[in-house]
Amino acid sequence: MRAWVISLMLLGLANCSKAPTISIPPPVDPVIPELKPGDPKAVFSAELYEPILKPYCNKCHHTESHESLDLSYEYIKEGRIDSFQPERSTIVSKIRDHGHNCWSADCLQDAEELLAGVNALVAVLEEPIGTTFDIKSKTTTFSETSPVSIEADPNDYITMPASSGTGAVNFANMLTDSPDGAIASYVTSPAGGAPKDQGDPTAGTITFTVDIPVAGDYFFWSRVMLPDDDSNEFFVTINNQTLQMISDPSVDQWAWRQLLTQDDEPLPQVLTLPAGPVTVVVQEREGGARFSYGLLTPRIDPNLEQFNTQFYDVAVDISNIVNTEATIIARVWKKAQGEDQAKAIGVKELRMISQQPILVQKIFPLIGDYYDQSHATYSQVSGTFGGPDPAAQLITTGGSLGTTWIGDMATDSLAFGFESLSVAP
Ligand code: HEC
Repeated sequence: MRAWVISLMLLGLANCSKAPTISIPPPVDPVIPELKPGDPKAVFSAELYEPILKPYCNKCHHTESHESLDLSYEYIKEGRIDSFQPERSTIVSKIRDHGHNCWSADCLQDAEELLAGVNALVAVLEEPIGTTFDIKSKTTTFSETSPVSIEADPNDYITMPASSGTGAVNFANMLTDSPDGAIASYVTSPAGGAPKDQGDPTAGTITFTVDIPVAGDYFFWSRVMLPDDDSNEFFVTINNQTLQMISDPSVDQWAWRQLLTQDDEPLPQVLTLPAGPVTVVVQEREGGARFSYGLLTPRIDPNLEQFNTQFYDVAVDISNIVNTEATIIARVWKKAQGEDQAKAIGVKELRMISQQPILVQKIFPLIGDYYDQSHATYSQVSGTFGGPDPAAQLITTGGSLGTTWIGDMATDSLAFGFESLSVAP
Protein backbone atom coordinates (compact mmCIF):
# COMPACT_ATOMS: atom_id res chain seq x y z
CA MET A 1 0.00 0.00 0.00
CA ARG A 2 2.65 2.44 1.00
CA ALA A 3 4.77 1.81 -2.07
CA TRP A 4 1.68 2.09 -4.17
CA VAL A 5 0.58 5.36 -2.67
CA ILE A 6 4.08 6.75 -2.84
CA SER A 7 4.53 5.81 -6.49
CA LEU A 8 1.17 7.39 -7.27
CA MET A 9 2.21 10.46 -5.37
CA LEU A 10 5.41 10.63 -7.35
CA LEU A 11 3.51 10.30 -10.62
CA GLY A 12 1.15 12.98 -9.42
CA LEU A 13 4.04 15.26 -8.59
CA ALA A 14 5.56 14.72 -12.00
CA ASN A 15 2.28 15.82 -13.58
CA CYS A 16 1.87 18.78 -11.29
CA SER A 17 5.34 20.06 -12.06
CA LYS A 18 4.37 20.73 -15.70
CA ALA A 19 4.15 24.41 -16.56
CA PRO A 20 0.54 25.59 -16.29
CA THR A 21 -1.22 25.94 -19.66
CA ILE A 22 -3.24 29.06 -20.44
CA SER A 23 -5.80 27.77 -22.93
CA ILE A 24 -8.31 25.28 -21.67
CA PRO A 25 -8.70 22.46 -24.16
CA PRO A 26 -12.25 21.43 -25.08
CA PRO A 27 -13.44 18.41 -23.14
CA VAL A 28 -12.63 15.15 -24.84
CA ASP A 29 -14.61 12.00 -24.30
CA PRO A 30 -12.44 9.62 -22.38
CA VAL A 31 -11.04 6.83 -24.50
CA ILE A 32 -12.82 3.70 -23.40
CA PRO A 33 -10.66 0.71 -24.15
CA GLU A 34 -12.28 -2.00 -26.23
CA LEU A 35 -13.05 -4.76 -23.80
CA LYS A 36 -14.76 -7.93 -24.89
CA PRO A 37 -17.39 -9.32 -22.59
CA GLY A 38 -15.78 -11.97 -20.47
CA ASP A 39 -12.42 -10.25 -20.69
CA PRO A 40 -11.10 -10.13 -17.12
CA LYS A 41 -10.65 -6.40 -17.22
CA ALA A 42 -14.20 -5.91 -18.50
CA VAL A 43 -15.51 -8.09 -15.71
CA PHE A 44 -13.36 -6.20 -13.25
CA SER A 45 -14.73 -2.91 -14.59
CA ALA A 46 -18.36 -4.00 -14.41
CA GLU A 47 -18.27 -5.93 -11.16
CA LEU A 48 -15.71 -4.12 -9.00
CA TYR A 49 -14.35 -0.96 -10.49
CA GLU A 50 -17.48 0.94 -11.56
CA PRO A 51 -19.86 -0.07 -8.78
CA ILE A 52 -17.45 -0.12 -5.81
CA LEU A 53 -13.83 0.87 -6.19
CA LYS A 54 -14.33 4.00 -8.24
CA PRO A 55 -17.03 5.58 -6.08
CA TYR A 56 -15.97 4.34 -2.65
CA CYS A 57 -12.28 3.54 -2.62
CA ASN A 58 -10.32 5.36 -5.25
CA LYS A 59 -10.77 8.82 -3.87
CA CYS A 60 -8.06 7.79 -1.45
CA HIS A 61 -6.45 5.00 -3.40
CA HIS A 62 -6.10 6.92 -6.65
CA THR A 63 -5.62 10.43 -7.86
CA GLU A 64 -7.91 11.69 -10.61
CA SER A 65 -5.11 12.45 -13.00
CA HIS A 66 -4.60 8.79 -13.70
CA GLU A 67 -6.22 6.29 -15.94
CA SER A 68 -7.89 4.64 -13.06
CA LEU A 69 -9.33 1.46 -14.48
CA ASP A 70 -5.91 0.21 -15.56
CA LEU A 71 -4.19 1.30 -12.39
CA SER A 72 -6.93 -0.09 -10.27
CA TYR A 73 -6.79 -3.38 -12.14
CA GLU A 74 -3.04 -3.63 -11.65
CA TYR A 75 -3.42 -2.81 -7.99
CA ILE A 76 -6.05 -5.48 -7.49
CA LYS A 77 -3.93 -8.06 -9.25
CA GLU A 78 -0.92 -7.31 -7.08
CA GLY A 79 -1.92 -9.71 -4.35
CA ARG A 80 -5.15 -8.01 -3.29
CA ILE A 81 -7.27 -10.82 -4.55
CA ASP A 82 -6.82 -14.49 -3.94
CA SER A 83 -8.12 -16.92 -6.52
CA PHE A 84 -7.73 -19.82 -4.17
CA GLN A 85 -9.57 -18.31 -1.25
CA PRO A 86 -11.55 -15.38 -2.63
CA GLU A 87 -12.99 -14.60 0.78
CA ARG A 88 -9.44 -14.05 1.99
CA SER A 89 -8.70 -11.41 -0.64
CA THR A 90 -7.37 -8.37 1.16
CA ILE A 91 -9.83 -6.02 -0.52
CA VAL A 92 -12.57 -8.13 1.05
CA SER A 93 -11.00 -8.83 4.44
CA LYS A 94 -9.95 -5.22 4.93
CA ILE A 95 -13.60 -4.24 4.78
CA ARG A 96 -15.08 -7.32 6.48
CA ASP A 97 -12.59 -7.78 9.34
CA HIS A 98 -11.34 -4.25 9.87
CA GLY A 99 -14.40 -2.19 8.90
CA HIS A 100 -12.13 -0.21 6.57
CA ASN A 101 -14.19 2.49 4.83
CA CYS A 102 -17.40 0.55 4.38
CA TRP A 103 -19.76 2.60 2.26
CA SER A 104 -23.05 1.49 3.77
CA ALA A 105 -24.02 1.08 7.38
CA ASP A 106 -23.41 -2.66 7.07
CA CYS A 107 -19.76 -3.59 6.55
CA LEU A 108 -20.55 -7.29 6.24
CA GLN A 109 -23.01 -6.57 3.46
CA ASP A 110 -20.40 -4.39 1.74
CA ALA A 111 -17.83 -7.15 2.08
CA GLU A 112 -20.31 -9.60 0.51
CA GLU A 113 -20.72 -7.28 -2.46
CA LEU A 114 -16.96 -7.02 -2.86
CA LEU A 115 -16.66 -10.78 -2.59
CA ALA A 116 -19.29 -11.28 -5.30
CA GLY A 117 -17.21 -9.02 -7.55
CA VAL A 118 -14.01 -10.87 -6.70
CA ASN A 119 -15.69 -14.20 -7.41
CA ALA A 120 -16.88 -12.95 -10.79
CA LEU A 121 -13.37 -11.80 -11.65
CA VAL A 122 -11.69 -14.95 -10.39
CA ALA A 123 -14.03 -17.02 -12.57
CA VAL A 124 -12.68 -15.43 -15.75
CA LEU A 125 -9.01 -15.05 -14.91
CA GLU A 126 -6.74 -17.17 -17.05
CA GLU A 127 -3.96 -17.29 -14.47
CA PRO A 128 -4.96 -17.66 -10.83
CA ILE A 129 -3.72 -14.93 -8.48
CA GLY A 130 -2.67 -15.54 -4.94
CA THR A 131 -0.30 -17.58 -2.93
CA THR A 132 -0.44 -21.31 -3.37
CA PHE A 133 1.42 -23.71 -1.23
CA ASP A 134 2.68 -27.09 -2.10
CA ILE A 135 1.97 -28.04 1.42
CA LYS A 136 -0.09 -26.79 4.23
CA SER A 137 0.88 -28.52 7.37
CA LYS A 138 -1.13 -27.80 10.44
CA THR A 139 0.39 -27.83 13.88
CA THR A 140 -0.88 -28.66 17.26
CA THR A 141 -2.52 -25.83 19.12
CA PHE A 142 -0.57 -24.11 21.87
CA SER A 143 -2.82 -25.32 24.60
CA GLU A 144 -1.77 -28.87 23.83
CA THR A 145 1.88 -28.12 24.46
CA SER A 146 3.68 -27.19 27.66
CA PRO A 147 5.65 -24.00 27.94
CA VAL A 148 9.42 -24.23 27.57
CA SER A 149 11.98 -22.05 29.20
CA ILE A 150 14.53 -20.54 26.93
CA GLU A 151 18.23 -20.96 27.36
CA ALA A 152 19.74 -17.54 27.83
CA ASP A 153 23.50 -17.26 27.32
CA PRO A 154 24.87 -17.92 30.84
CA ASN A 155 27.72 -15.46 30.25
CA ASP A 156 25.28 -12.68 29.56
CA TYR A 157 22.52 -13.47 31.99
CA ILE A 158 23.01 -14.65 35.55
CA THR A 159 19.47 -15.35 36.56
CA MET A 160 17.79 -15.37 39.98
CA PRO A 161 14.16 -16.42 39.78
CA ALA A 162 12.54 -16.14 43.22
CA SER A 163 11.91 -19.87 43.10
CA SER A 164 15.68 -20.47 43.11
CA GLY A 165 16.29 -18.30 46.17
CA THR A 166 16.91 -19.71 49.62
CA GLY A 167 15.69 -18.68 53.03
CA ALA A 168 12.93 -16.29 52.01
CA VAL A 169 12.99 -15.27 55.67
CA ASN A 170 9.96 -13.22 56.71
CA PHE A 171 8.97 -12.72 53.13
CA ALA A 172 5.60 -14.35 52.64
CA ASN A 173 5.94 -17.92 51.49
CA MET A 174 6.62 -18.20 47.81
CA LEU A 175 3.54 -16.95 46.04
CA THR A 176 2.56 -18.25 42.68
CA ASP A 177 -0.42 -16.19 41.67
CA SER A 178 1.52 -13.97 39.31
CA PRO A 179 -0.48 -13.38 36.18
CA ASP A 180 2.74 -13.08 34.29
CA GLY A 181 3.59 -16.24 32.40
CA ALA A 182 7.07 -17.49 32.95
CA ILE A 183 7.59 -15.53 36.11
CA ALA A 184 5.14 -17.39 38.20
CA SER A 185 6.43 -16.89 41.72
CA TYR A 186 7.48 -13.95 43.85
CA VAL A 187 8.14 -12.85 47.43
CA THR A 188 6.64 -9.95 49.28
CA SER A 189 5.98 -8.66 52.77
CA PRO A 190 2.87 -7.03 54.26
CA ALA A 191 2.25 -3.46 53.16
CA GLY A 192 2.19 -0.60 55.68
CA GLY A 193 4.32 0.15 58.73
CA ALA A 194 7.62 1.94 58.85
CA PRO A 195 10.30 1.13 56.26
CA LYS A 196 12.80 -1.44 57.54
CA ASP A 197 16.44 -0.56 58.02
CA GLN A 198 19.24 -2.41 56.39
CA GLY A 199 20.08 -5.43 58.50
CA ASP A 200 16.83 -5.30 60.51
CA PRO A 201 16.42 -8.90 61.68
CA THR A 202 12.65 -8.69 61.25
CA ALA A 203 12.95 -7.65 57.59
CA GLY A 204 12.19 -10.18 54.88
CA THR A 205 15.17 -11.47 52.91
CA ILE A 206 15.79 -13.87 50.06
CA THR A 207 19.27 -15.09 49.21
CA PHE A 208 20.77 -16.28 45.92
CA THR A 209 24.14 -17.80 45.27
CA VAL A 210 25.21 -17.33 41.70
CA ASP A 211 28.29 -18.13 39.70
CA ILE A 212 29.90 -15.18 37.94
CA PRO A 213 31.52 -16.63 34.81
CA VAL A 214 33.94 -13.78 34.05
CA ALA A 215 35.23 -11.08 36.41
CA GLY A 216 34.06 -7.66 35.29
CA ASP A 217 31.38 -4.99 35.44
CA TYR A 218 27.78 -6.06 35.85
CA PHE A 219 24.36 -4.44 36.19
CA PHE A 220 21.54 -5.65 38.42
CA TRP A 221 17.94 -5.81 37.24
CA SER A 222 14.88 -7.06 39.02
CA ARG A 223 11.40 -7.95 37.92
CA VAL A 224 9.13 -6.29 40.44
CA MET A 225 5.62 -5.07 41.09
CA LEU A 226 5.73 -1.83 43.06
CA PRO A 227 2.26 -0.57 43.97
CA ASP A 228 3.11 3.02 44.92
CA ASP A 229 5.71 5.37 46.38
CA ASP A 230 5.39 3.72 49.79
CA SER A 231 6.07 0.26 48.38
CA ASN A 232 8.90 0.67 45.94
CA GLU A 233 12.12 0.07 47.83
CA PHE A 234 14.41 -2.88 48.56
CA PHE A 235 17.95 -3.30 49.77
CA VAL A 236 20.22 -5.37 47.56
CA THR A 237 23.46 -6.79 48.90
CA ILE A 238 25.74 -8.06 46.17
CA ASN A 239 29.09 -9.52 47.08
CA ASN A 240 28.87 -7.79 50.51
CA GLN A 241 28.11 -4.35 49.05
CA THR A 242 24.67 -3.12 50.17
CA LEU A 243 22.75 -0.72 47.98
CA GLN A 244 19.32 0.76 48.28
CA MET A 245 17.08 0.09 45.34
CA ILE A 246 14.45 2.79 44.87
CA SER A 247 12.45 2.43 41.69
CA ASP A 248 9.50 4.05 40.00
CA PRO A 249 6.24 2.43 41.07
CA SER A 250 4.94 -0.02 38.50
CA VAL A 251 1.41 0.02 39.91
CA ASP A 252 -0.42 -3.16 38.88
CA GLN A 253 2.18 -4.34 36.44
CA TRP A 254 5.24 -6.49 36.63
CA ALA A 255 8.14 -4.47 35.33
CA TRP A 256 11.90 -4.69 35.02
CA ARG A 257 13.71 -2.14 37.14
CA GLN A 258 17.43 -1.51 37.08
CA LEU A 259 19.50 -0.88 40.18
CA LEU A 260 20.50 2.77 39.88
CA THR A 261 22.87 4.97 41.79
CA GLN A 262 21.02 6.89 44.49
CA ASP A 263 21.75 10.49 43.68
CA ASP A 264 20.09 13.42 41.94
CA GLU A 265 20.71 12.10 38.47
CA PRO A 266 20.75 8.36 38.90
CA LEU A 267 22.83 6.23 36.57
CA PRO A 268 22.96 2.46 36.22
CA GLN A 269 24.85 1.14 39.22
CA VAL A 270 28.04 -0.57 38.05
CA LEU A 271 28.96 -3.65 40.09
CA THR A 272 32.50 -4.86 39.72
CA LEU A 273 32.42 -8.56 40.51
CA PRO A 274 35.03 -11.31 40.77
CA ALA A 275 34.64 -14.56 38.91
CA GLY A 276 33.19 -17.40 40.94
CA PRO A 277 30.40 -17.71 43.51
CA VAL A 278 28.75 -14.47 44.59
CA THR A 279 25.94 -14.00 47.11
CA VAL A 280 23.03 -11.73 46.38
CA VAL A 281 20.57 -10.85 49.15
CA VAL A 282 17.39 -8.94 48.49
CA GLN A 283 15.98 -7.42 51.68
CA GLU A 284 12.61 -5.88 52.36
CA ARG A 285 12.67 -2.10 52.82
CA GLU A 286 9.05 -1.13 52.16
CA GLY A 287 6.24 -3.64 52.64
CA GLY A 288 4.03 -4.49 49.69
CA ALA A 289 6.81 -4.39 47.10
CA ARG A 290 6.93 -7.67 45.20
CA PHE A 291 10.11 -9.23 43.88
CA SER A 292 10.03 -12.07 41.40
CA TYR A 293 13.28 -12.19 39.47
CA GLY A 294 16.81 -10.87 39.78
CA LEU A 295 19.37 -10.67 37.03
CA LEU A 296 23.03 -9.76 36.77
CA THR A 297 24.21 -8.92 33.29
CA PRO A 298 27.27 -7.33 31.70
CA ARG A 299 25.07 -6.08 28.88
CA ILE A 300 23.98 -2.47 28.73
CA ASP A 301 21.05 -3.45 26.50
CA PRO A 302 19.85 -6.75 27.96
CA ASN A 303 16.92 -8.53 26.36
CA LEU A 304 14.79 -8.86 29.48
CA GLU A 305 11.51 -9.80 27.86
CA GLN A 306 12.83 -13.27 27.18
CA PHE A 307 12.58 -14.03 30.89
CA ASN A 308 8.94 -13.18 31.24
CA THR A 309 7.60 -14.45 27.96
CA GLN A 310 6.07 -17.87 27.79
CA PHE A 311 7.43 -19.87 24.91
CA TYR A 312 5.94 -22.99 23.42
CA ASP A 313 7.52 -25.54 21.16
CA VAL A 314 5.09 -26.51 18.50
CA ALA A 315 5.98 -29.50 16.33
CA VAL A 316 4.98 -29.76 12.69
CA ASP A 317 5.43 -33.25 11.34
CA ILE A 318 6.52 -32.94 7.72
CA SER A 319 7.52 -36.55 7.11
CA ASN A 320 4.56 -37.13 4.82
CA ILE A 321 5.79 -34.27 2.66
CA VAL A 322 9.46 -35.09 2.35
CA ASN A 323 9.03 -38.86 2.61
CA THR A 324 11.56 -39.15 5.36
CA GLU A 325 11.36 -38.60 9.10
CA ALA A 326 11.35 -34.83 9.64
CA THR A 327 9.77 -32.35 12.00
CA ILE A 328 9.89 -28.60 12.17
CA ILE A 329 9.88 -27.31 15.72
CA ALA A 330 8.60 -23.77 16.00
CA ARG A 331 9.38 -21.99 19.24
CA VAL A 332 6.61 -19.48 19.53
CA TRP A 333 5.23 -16.99 21.98
CA LYS A 334 1.80 -15.55 22.23
CA LYS A 335 0.27 -12.68 24.04
CA ALA A 336 -2.79 -10.52 24.02
CA GLN A 337 -1.98 -6.97 23.07
CA GLY A 338 -3.60 -3.65 22.42
CA GLU A 339 -6.86 -2.25 23.63
CA ASP A 340 -8.92 -5.08 22.23
CA GLN A 341 -6.41 -7.64 23.55
CA ALA A 342 -5.95 -9.08 20.09
CA LYS A 343 -3.98 -12.27 20.17
CA ALA A 344 -0.51 -11.98 18.74
CA ILE A 345 1.69 -14.93 17.85
CA GLY A 346 5.40 -14.63 17.32
CA VAL A 347 7.96 -17.13 16.16
CA LYS A 348 11.23 -16.96 17.98
CA GLU A 349 12.93 -19.65 16.01
CA LEU A 350 12.37 -22.64 13.78
CA ARG A 351 14.39 -25.84 13.86
CA MET A 352 14.51 -28.68 11.40
CA ILE A 353 14.84 -32.02 13.14
CA SER A 354 15.51 -34.67 10.53
CA GLN A 355 17.83 -37.53 9.71
CA GLN A 356 18.59 -36.20 6.25
CA PRO A 357 19.16 -32.51 5.44
CA ILE A 358 16.04 -30.92 4.02
CA LEU A 359 15.99 -28.34 1.26
CA VAL A 360 13.51 -25.58 2.12
CA GLN A 361 12.33 -23.09 -0.47
CA LYS A 362 10.41 -20.31 1.20
CA ILE A 363 8.39 -20.74 4.34
CA PHE A 364 5.05 -19.06 4.73
CA PRO A 365 3.73 -18.81 8.26
CA LEU A 366 0.01 -19.42 8.14
CA ILE A 367 -2.14 -17.89 10.79
CA GLY A 368 -5.53 -19.43 10.93
CA ASP A 369 -4.48 -21.37 7.82
CA TYR A 370 -3.98 -18.23 5.88
CA TYR A 371 -0.85 -16.51 4.69
CA ASP A 372 -0.84 -12.78 5.17
CA GLN A 373 1.76 -10.87 3.20
CA SER A 374 2.43 -8.57 6.08
CA HIS A 375 3.86 -11.48 8.05
CA ALA A 376 6.27 -12.39 5.36
CA THR A 377 9.64 -12.60 7.08
CA TYR A 378 9.90 -16.31 6.77
CA SER A 379 9.12 -16.28 3.08
CA GLN A 380 12.70 -15.10 2.65
CA VAL A 381 14.06 -18.30 4.05
CA SER A 382 15.60 -20.71 1.60
CA GLY A 383 18.34 -23.16 2.37
CA THR A 384 19.26 -26.61 3.56
CA PHE A 385 18.58 -27.36 7.19
CA GLY A 386 18.53 -30.34 9.52
CA GLY A 387 20.40 -33.61 9.19
CA PRO A 388 22.82 -35.16 11.69
CA ASP A 389 24.69 -31.94 12.56
CA PRO A 390 22.81 -30.18 15.39
CA ALA A 391 24.31 -26.83 14.35
CA ALA A 392 22.44 -27.14 11.05
CA GLN A 393 19.05 -27.40 12.72
CA LEU A 394 18.33 -23.73 13.13
CA ILE A 395 16.38 -22.33 10.21
CA THR A 396 17.95 -18.91 10.12
CA THR A 397 15.66 -16.03 9.54
CA GLY A 398 17.92 -13.03 9.49
CA GLY A 399 15.24 -11.37 11.58
CA SER A 400 15.46 -10.26 15.14
CA LEU A 401 14.50 -12.65 17.88
CA GLY A 402 11.06 -12.78 19.33
CA THR A 403 9.32 -10.57 16.86
CA THR A 404 9.92 -12.45 13.70
CA TRP A 405 6.31 -12.18 12.75
CA ILE A 406 3.09 -11.69 14.52
CA GLY A 407 -0.53 -12.06 13.66
CA ASP A 408 -3.50 -10.28 15.07
CA MET A 409 -5.91 -13.08 14.42
CA ALA A 410 -7.66 -14.87 17.18
CA THR A 411 -6.26 -18.32 16.73
CA ASP A 412 -4.32 -20.75 18.81
CA SER A 413 -2.88 -22.73 16.00
CA LEU A 414 -0.34 -22.03 13.39
CA ALA A 415 0.82 -23.81 10.31
CA PHE A 416 3.43 -23.38 7.65
CA GLY A 417 3.22 -23.45 3.91
CA PHE A 418 6.28 -24.05 1.78
CA GLU A 419 6.99 -23.29 -1.81
CA SER A 420 8.84 -26.57 -1.86
CA LEU A 421 10.32 -28.91 0.66
CA SER A 422 12.42 -31.94 -0.21
CA VAL A 423 15.32 -34.09 0.87
CA ALA A 424 18.48 -32.21 -0.14
CA PRO A 425 20.17 -33.76 -3.16
C1 HEC B 1 -10.58 7.67 3.42
C2 HEC B 1 -9.55 7.13 2.57
C3 HEC B 1 -9.71 5.67 2.15
C4 HEC B 1 -10.80 5.10 1.57
C5 HEC B 1 -12.13 5.72 1.19
C6 HEC B 1 -10.44 3.72 1.34
N1 HEC B 1 -9.18 3.47 1.78
FE1 HEC B 1 -8.20 1.71 1.75
N2 HEC B 1 -6.63 2.51 2.73
C7 HEC B 1 -6.53 3.83 3.07
C8 HEC B 1 -5.29 4.01 3.79
C9 HEC B 1 -4.76 5.32 4.36
C10 HEC B 1 -4.67 2.75 3.86
C11 HEC B 1 -3.36 2.39 4.51
C12 HEC B 1 -3.55 2.17 5.98
C13 HEC B 1 -4.27 0.90 6.28
O1 HEC B 1 -3.81 -0.17 5.91
O2 HEC B 1 -5.37 0.98 6.91
C14 HEC B 1 -5.56 1.82 3.17
C15 HEC B 1 -5.28 0.49 3.03
C16 HEC B 1 -6.06 -0.39 2.31
C17 HEC B 1 -5.72 -1.76 2.05
C18 HEC B 1 -4.50 -2.51 2.58
C19 HEC B 1 -3.26 -2.09 1.90
C20 HEC B 1 -3.22 -2.51 0.44
O3 HEC B 1 -3.01 -1.62 -0.40
O4 HEC B 1 -3.39 -3.71 0.17
C21 HEC B 1 -6.71 -2.29 1.29
C22 HEC B 1 -6.81 -3.70 0.74
C23 HEC B 1 -7.68 -1.24 1.08
N3 HEC B 1 -7.26 -0.09 1.72
C24 HEC B 1 -8.84 -1.37 0.38
C25 HEC B 1 -9.83 -0.40 0.26
C26 HEC B 1 -11.09 -0.62 -0.37
C27 HEC B 1 -11.53 -1.90 -1.06
C28 HEC B 1 -11.77 0.55 -0.24
C29 HEC B 1 -13.18 0.85 -0.70
C30 HEC B 1 -14.20 0.08 -0.12
C31 HEC B 1 -10.93 1.49 0.47
N4 HEC B 1 -9.75 0.87 0.76
C32 HEC B 1 -11.28 2.80 0.77
C33 HEC B 1 -7.42 4.84 2.80
C34 HEC B 1 -8.69 4.64 2.28
